[in-house]
Amino acid sequence: MKKNFLNLGKQPIANSFLSSISKNSLKREYFYRLIVCFNTRNFLVSVKDPVDPKIQYTDKYAHRASESQTMQSAFKLVAQNLQKRFKPRKIMEIGSNDGVFLKNFPKKKVIAVEPCKNLANITKKKFKTYSSFWNKKLSKKILKIHSKVDLIFSSNTISHIPNLKETFEAINNVLSDRGVLVIEDPSLSSVIKINSYDQFYDEHVYVFSALSINNIVKDYELKLFDVEKISNHGGSLRYFITKKKSSFKITSRLKKILNDEKKQGLNSFITFKKFAKKVEKSKKKLVALLKKLKKKNFKIISYGATYKSTTVFNYCKINNKFFHYVTDTTKNKQGKFTPGMHIPILSPEKGFNESVDYAYLGAWNFKKEIMNKEKEYLKRGGKFITHVPQVKIIR
Ligand code: TMP
Repeated sequence: MKKNFLNLGKQPIANSFLSSISKNSLKREYFYRLIVCFNTRNFLVSVKDPVDPKIQYTDKYAHRASESQTMQSAFKLVAQNLQKRFKPRKIMEIGSNDGVFLKNFPKKKVIAVEPCKNLANITKKKFKTYSSFWNKKLSKKILKIHSKVDLIFSSNTISHIPNLKETFEAINNVLSDRGVLVIEDPSLSSVIKINSYDQFYDEHVYVFSALSINNIVKDYELKLFDVEKISNHGGSLRYFITKKKSSFKITSRLKKILNDEKKQGLNSFITFKKFAKKVEKSKKKLVALLKKLKKKNFKIISYGATYKSTTVFNYCKINNKFFHYVTDTTKNKQGKFTPGMHIPILSPEKGFNESVDYAYLGAWNFKKEIMNKEKEYLKRGGKFITHVPQVKIIR
């Protein structure tokens, strides 16, 4: 049974940055209700009414995985480790974005799957790329041309696909008998621990735990045999899944993580009700802090036009009365406006200057990288604001 626990209100599509805020453009802006629920049968946490993927993953999709140095290094390292551990002959990535993971493998071994045409056009220059949503039809098409795949990798994508049945059945079609499916997604355990409620937005249809993945894959003749904690995106899990009959043994670290999640209560609805109360408190505290700083006439901006901040801004009703603007390094976000709250986005060169007193960390998941980069800002007395793990000022 699915039980609702969190209502984040009316929300726009998180990656739908607006080129114009004319009356006509605003009329067309799409909104939905972001309600999050818990399935008491398989412990899966999901968005109650997912948005149609055709509205989300278009040829205007803004996110470039290569944009952060942290992610470039993380993908290189995982590619090297997977190569060493599983020695795959054929590798496929579901949601290959701009090829930041696949570029670490020889061209001939690689298949890219990416529904956003603007991104698929980048990898097409180098790799065999299927510009399509991942489904059974595509899996059959791939099998007609290629051999079965030994390593399927998917980072921050499976949690975006509403139809898990179709997804895992299609994976089962192309995965070789000793093949391994490796999935990375934000971890529910971390979300609860650090109160990062902004991990819920339209694209994150699911926030997985080892407990829920362990249950779900069983329905599709697959088994979870290992799991690894990773620091990506404020705490993620990397799941290792294989065919039910394959000889991979369940690792002790998987057993430990399953136990830890049970201790944390990720199999119990009460945990999520408590979390929802904390989220409400976080909203009140953030708005109160911004109001106080505004009254004192400080200039506040937001650092990083992230999808996560779309949730925070729209849930807390933070608009350009609070933030002068948002800065972001991504070229195709600059000059646009944030979804829902319509705050202008500038390049850091234009916007991150002497005049800024406070910068809200929209990209809190890259805190380390940003603190290193912005030492001068901090030195001259500039401050950051974050809501993770609690609302506070970073000096
Ligand atoms: P993500 O959390 O969805 O990956 O998005 C991070 C966004 O933050 C992305 O648009 C790039 C931006 N960003 C900056 O503007 N400056 C930075 O130093 C970093 C690390 C990211």
